[in-house]
This record gives sequence, C-alpha cells and structure tokens, in this order.
Amino acid sequence: MFFGLVALLLVGLGSASVQIVPGATITTAGTNQHMQAHGGGIVEVSGTYYLIGENKLNGSAFQSINCYSSTDLVSWTFVNKVLTLQASGDLGPNRVVERPHVMFNEKTGKWVMWMHIDSSSYGEARAGVATSSSVCGSYTYLGASKPLGFQSRDMNVFKGELDTDGTGYLLTEDRANGLRIDKLSDDYLSVESATHLYAQDYEAPALYKSGDTYFMFASHESGWDPNDNIYCTATNLSGPWSAWATFATSGSKTFSSQTSAVVSINGVVIYMGDRWESKNLMTSTYVWLPLTISGTTAKLTNEVNWVLDIAGGKWSAGPDETAPEAEASTNTISGGAKEQSCSGCSGTSDVGYIGGSAGGTLTFPSISSTVATTTTIRIKYINGDSTQRYANVLVNGVAYVVAFLPTTGSTPGTSTLTVPLKSGSGNVIEFEAYNGGWGPDIDRLMVPVS
Ligand SMILES: *[C@@H]1O[C@H](CO)[C@@H](O)[C@H](O)[C@H]1NC(C)=O
Ligand SMILES: *[C@@H]1O[C@H](CO)[C@@H](O)[C@H](O)[C@H]1NC(C)=O
Repeated sequence: MFFGLVALLLVGLGSASVQIVPGATITTAGTNQHMQAHGGGIVEVSGTYYLIGENKLNGSAFQSINCYSSTDLVSWTFVNKVLTLQASGDLGPNRVVERPHVMFNEKTGKWVMWMHIDSSSYGEARAGVATSSSVCGSYTYLGASKPLGFQSRDMNVFKGELDTDGTGYLLTEDRANGLRIDKLSDDYLSVESATHLYAQDYEAPALYKSGDTYFMFASHESGWDPNDNIYCTATNLSGPWSAWATFATSGSKTFSSQTSAVVSINGVVIYMGDRWESKNLMTSTYVWLPLTISGTTAKLTNEVNWVLDIAGGKWSAGPDETAPEAEASTNTISGGAKEQSCSGCSGTSDVGYIGGSAGGTLTFPSISSTVATTTTIRIKYINGDSTQRYANVLVNGVAYVVAFLPTTGSTPGTSTLTVPLKSGSGNVIEFEAYNGGWGPDIDRLMVPVS
C-alpha cells in the first residue's frame, strides 16, 4: 500500500505528459488567441524559453514582432511586441519584416535581432538589425542594408555557441547567386566578410552544430507552399560542404512545413517549422518535431503529439489516449447546442451551436485519467469562419479560454488544452460560450489516459 502510493506519486510527477502537438491551435496566456510568432526561433535565458517571431494576425504586411515565454514549450504566455508598426520607413505600413532571429552578444551585453526587410513586392531584399538590453524587451531598430552588397531575403543567425570565440554569422538568401553564410562584426551589428557561398539558391536557412559537425538546413523555393526541405554538413563553415539531402520522409514536404530554426533544448534537438496557410496567414501553425542527429545524418519523423522531458533531456511519443465523442449519448447537450452531421468527423457527427445568445453547452461528464496529472487534451473541432472562434472550457469547474483557428472543409482541426485532471473517471469537461460568441463545433476529445 505504502509503496503503491509512492509509486503512484512518482508516476504522477514523472509522467508530466504535457505534449507538443504539431499543427495545432496554441492558445496563449495574455491574449487568449493563437500564438503569433511565425518564422522565428527559440532562445533560452535562465530556464525560460522565448519564442520571437512574426505577428500575422492581420495578413502578410508587418504588424509587429512578438515575443512569448514558456518553461515547457507547451504552455506559452504573450510577453511583448518587441518591434511595433511605425508611421513610415522600414517598419511602416505595407512592409515586409520577416524571419526575426536574435542572439546575445557577450561583448556589448545586448540582444541583437536580424530580420528580412523588404517592400511588399520583395524588391528591396535587405537585412535589418535591431538591439535590446533584454531578450523580450523593446528593440531599437538600427536600419537595413544589403549584406556585402548582395540581395538578402530569408535569413537566420548562428552563433558559434560550441566554438570558443562566440563569432556570429548571418545566413542569407541571395537570389542572384545562392545561399550565403557571412561573418558578423564583433558586436554583431554589421556584416564583415563572406564565409561561404552555396552554389544552390535555397531559402529558410537554419544552422546547427552537433559535435564537430555543422548542419545547414534549408528549403527549396515554392512560395508559401511546403516542399521537401534539405540539409548538408561540414566540419568548417567555409566548407567543403556535403551534397544536400532530404531529412524528413521524402514526399511529405517536410510534414507540410518549412524550416524556421533548429535548436537544442537540453540536448533534445528540435526542428521548428512553419506550416504556412497562405490564404489566411494568421492560421499558420507550428510544426515542432524531435530531430535525430547521428554523426553526419539528420532524420525527422512525424509525431501526432510528443512529450518533451526537458529536465531529463529526452523525448517520447505521445501517451495512450481515450477519444470520447461529442455526440455520445452520455454527454449533456443543452441550450440550443445540437448534434449535426459532419462528413470529416469521427462518427460523421459533431456537436454545433455551442455558445451564442442561447448559451449552448456540451458537457462530457466522465472523462478518465489513471493518474492525477497535468496533461494536454487535443480537441478536434470544426470552425467554418475565417476568424478564430473561442470557447470557455470548464475542467472540473475551472475555466479556460480556448481559441480555435478556422478549419478547411469538413476536416477537423486540433486545439490544445493543458489542464490538471483528477485520477479516475469523474473528470467533467464542459464547453460553453466565451463572451457570448459562438464556439466551434466539437468532434471529439483525445485525452491521455496517464
Ligand atoms: C490590417 O491591415 C490592413 C492592410 O494592411 C490595414 O489597412 C488595417 O488597418 C489593418 N488592421 C489592423 C487592425 O491592424
Ligand atoms: C576553415 O576554413 C578556412 C578557409 O579555408 C580556414 O581559414 C580556417 O582555418 C578553417 N578553420 C578551421 C577551424 O579549420
């Protein structure tokens, strides 16, 4: 009995099954909306992870560069608009400001951001730079230029973290000549010299170093549409570089994503990609997957959901789940909410008319978990609007606001909800109106059993 209890507690603590779910709507604290930090990367400061990327809430033109924080890469909190829309100039209306990436400069004590600066027709092709005294603080924009006189579109930065000298590099796509690696000045504020020019013109670059090997990841050019991204390796940034090869399942178009960054989170190497939705860019999602690096090879496999154990420096596939249907007769459907047909939904039914002025509700009265733990529930839903819908979701009486991005046709989307569940089959989950609006149509839940 005693040992059983201890074992249960250990399982409860150790199985923190909060999950990263590629392609899901991620509702962030502080906005209650889908995270808007596209084309960016993650940096760590004192155990907190910061995601800095593009705000696409209102289309492709520059609105702001946003910063969010997290301690587990699952639950994210909006912190700051680190660059904001100006009345005119490079950061003015109808401008392109893309792929912001930051690194800390030891010599100046400043965070330095490099980003693609362009006109709406992409005719300027410049690289811009900004600095801040804190990672998620407001950055001061210093201007943009063509690095060494060459065009610069998609870009990224690399700090020789595992090298001793802390040299910074700019990775830059020069459409006329090919992808480049340029060395930055000691303060990272200007481009000093060319390190390497790849004969191929690839975009979306990201550089990662494992042991003595540099891995350069990039994508082919196919606009907002995904393609099979590629990588090559070298033991010196100046080359020689190996031939380019795919790293994800061939034909999967990098699991429908484009490289934005490759990072190590306490030894777990993570591919960060953007699943761009060109017709409605704010609905673009994040495809973050564990990347297996072995010697000079990199391999990406797809996961519906996965568990990142940061403290343990390892990852595992998602847990077993139950999949309770919204239309199950054991649920309570009231206030005008009703079962309706949905050809792409499991059981070809979902529950619609949740929320609204009639106050439709859907209650799952008996959700099971074998342990008391905080876990990530995947909510399968339909939202036929072109804007986000929201629901107030009560989990054992505690309210959470969840956002639901627009979906296409009758294919359900996925929103994540990370919440504590009790041990046993008595967890109650109720969907109701948020601010009197319509919620999404709910297909089913995917609930970890442990
Ligand atoms: C959205 O973008 C359009 C076009 O760039 C602009 O006219 C409008 O003011 C923007 N709306 C908001 C809320 O920023
Ligand atoms: C990398 O290659 C460059 C150019 O050939 C050379 O100058 C440099 O010494 C090399 N670096 C190392 C660490 O071998």
